[in-house]
Amino acid sequence: MNSINKAAPTIAVIFGGTGDLTKRKLVPAFYNLFLDGWMPEHFAVIGLGRTATDDVKYREHLREGLNEFSRSGKPEDAPWEKFRDSIYYLQSNINDPASYEELADKIHALEESWGTRANRLFYLSVAPNFIEPITVNLSNVGIASDVERDRIVVEKPFGHDLGSARQLNQLLTRTFQESQIYRIDHYLGKETVQNILAFRFANALFEPLWNRNYIDYVQITVAEEVGVEDRGGYYEGSGALRDMIQNHLLQLLCMVAMEPPVTFEAEEIRNRKVDVLEAIRRFSREDVGKYAVRGQYGPGWMKGSQVPGYREEEGVDPKSGTETYAAIKFFLDNWRWQGVPFYLRTGKRMQEKSSSITIQFQPVPHLTFPTTMSENILPNRLVINIQPQMDIRLRFMAKKTGLEMALTPAEMVFDFNGGTTKSQSPEAYETLLLDAMQGDATLFMRSDQVEVAWEVITPILETWESRHSLEFPNYAAGMWGPENAEALIARDGHTWTVSLSH
Ligand code: BG6
Repeated sequence: MNSINKAAPTIAVIFGGTGDLTKRKLVPAFYNLFLDGWMPEHFAVIGLGRTATDDVKYREHLREGLNEFSRSGKPEDAPWEKFRDSIYYLQSNINDPASYEELADKIHALEESWGTRANRLFYLSVAPNFIEPITVNLSNVGIASDVERDRIVVEKPFGHDLGSARQLNQLLTRTFQESQIYRIDHYLGKETVQNILAFRFANALFEPLWNRNYIDYVQITVAEEVGVEDRGGYYEGSGALRDMIQNHLLQLLCMVAMEPPVTFEAEEIRNRKVDVLEAIRRFSREDVGKYAVRGQYGPGWMKGSQVPGYREEEGVDPKSGTETYAAIKFFLDNWRWQGVPFYLRTGKRMQEKSSSITIQFQPVPHLTFPTTMSENILPNRLVINIQPQMDIRLRFMAKKTGLEMALTPAEMVFDFNGGTTKSQSPEAYETLLLDAMQGDATLFMRSDQVEVAWEVITPILETWESRHSLEFPNYAAGMWGPENAEALIARDGHTWTVSLSH
């Protein structure tokens, strides 16, 4: 959520420097920030990893990543050559204090050559069990102790359940101040997600209607085409509830349901989001079946190709009870939202990649027009398409052109990309890295946010874990999820919004 300030001189240290995230997301994000003039004059990226390699080979490896994953395409020689000189590699062992001494020497040498103490960003893109040795060693060597200038960025998964998330928070806050800790939820960095705040709070038009008096229900869908890819091992211990609902979908819900913040300050915005999470009605374990549905994909067809079921994926137990789909109906117990259902769903191997938020308004209170003028007077509906389509659509009823008085649904569309092309809009990691460099924590998760989100899903997690589904797999790859999920919403007389303008 940066303004136009460039960050101060910065050294970004990536634990997990040879990992997939570094190559696919982090370095392309730094590179595109560099191209767009956002990187400070003095910056360095130091990748840490166990692999034996050197700066030259490491830079080449990252360039290959850029060729494949950068939104601006293959880097041209001149800017790349300038950028690459700021990248370094240190072979290191997370558990060995000597590696941290070496890192400290590197940091000090860079700062000395720049003639200034830099901001230091320690990016933890590692499995959760490595967080403890990293924080202890960083603390011992004393390179992350400046509360104003040193920051720790922590990737998900942030804990495995409420207990482990609390432990992780305690562990981090033993060594760092909360203000130094940046917990990533990359959905918050997406352009269309940030725009929800602008849409709601920079316009007078919608906010007066944004409540139980005018809104019938809300749907949030994050549908993916991909399966578990090569992450079967991780996903087996996770499932859709932990992987997507606990973080991304609940954060989207917060953006839609929060009260207007008084100021655009990180703490204020995060407080308003915590209020939403606190207001979510907790299910009893007996009620989980009424409000939550899980699914697992079997073999099926995706765009004309046959794909295996989840249980056939690499690293997955052939009898796995892990859910790859979850749909949940939540209620918020507060004045604004009492009685308005929020339907959330997410799944892998769905028919199409599409993430959207649907705000369904109440039907008109009285029908002025006879049914002969329209077969279908549809209630107003606002659809916020998050990805891959990026737009906002407002459905309303209009007169059909012609001498007859006949009605038809029409749409007003705000196309997010407008005149720009997709490759011009920044990726979530660009926004988030720049924010972390500038010390703006608005789009990051505070400890209490993470914990309340775990608390919300705990009854579902525990119920599902204690009773394995006997129906799995219960949807074919390429479908829209299990039949029970249709029933979940159909019981209330609604259907899932499957495509943009329905
Ligand atoms: C990640 C999940 O957090 O988000 C993945 O671990 C998921 O399982 C991904 O595929 C989806 O992100 P995006 O940005 O592609 O919608």
